[in-house]
Amino acid sequence: MKLTLLVGTMTGTAQLVAQELELAWDDGELRVETLLMDKLDSGVFKREGIFLIVTSTYGQGDVPDNAKALYEDLKSKRPDLSRVRYGVFGLGDRTYAETFNFGGKRFDDILGELGAQRIGERVQHDASSGVLPEEKAEQWGEGWVALAKEAIAVST
Ligand SMILES: Cc1cc2nc3c(=O)[nH]c(=O)nc-3n(C[C@H](O)[C@H](O)[C@H](O)COP(=O)(O)O)c2cc1C
Repeated sequence: MKLTLLVGTMTGTAQLVAQELELAWDDGELRVETLLMDKLDSGVFKREGIFLIVTSTYGQGDVPDNAKALYEDLKSKRPDLSRVRYGVFGLGDRTYAETFNFGGKRFDDILGELGAQRIGERVQHDASSGVLPEEKAEQWGEGWVALAKEAIAVST
């Protein structure tokens, strides 16, 4: 099974999370590849396997700068993503109460609108919680991978 981690980040925290997940998960049975969203367009969702969006939130609840081109391309081209299965690990800070974790939410909303099916719940890390994002990812990740494997087994 192939898993592509798509990383939206401004200061590298989401990338660190993705690196930890890739280290923990890539075991031969599951082949993990991490791609920064920079310069990607919606064609990336033609790749084989499943996807995990790992993205932070900036500005007024926006996706990070390196995720903007991909996000806007999804919104304008509106490809049919009904074959796509994905998860979302969002990074944010509850101090931004009105826009908490909107980066992950925006990707979740557009992927859902385009017919993609989410595996599991959308995760929302809170930078003001005192829990490190890579710790939260590790705790959550095991269950998510199991769900993803089930989802793939059912659909093949
Ligand atoms: C200028 C600025 C704006 C931010 N805006 C939001 C926001 O609107 N909502 C939110 O949940 N988090 C917001 N955050 C928090 C970041 O998403 C959070 O710190 C995240 O862990 C950063 O991850 P990154 O290093 O991968 O970009 C903001 C942080 C900064 C510095």
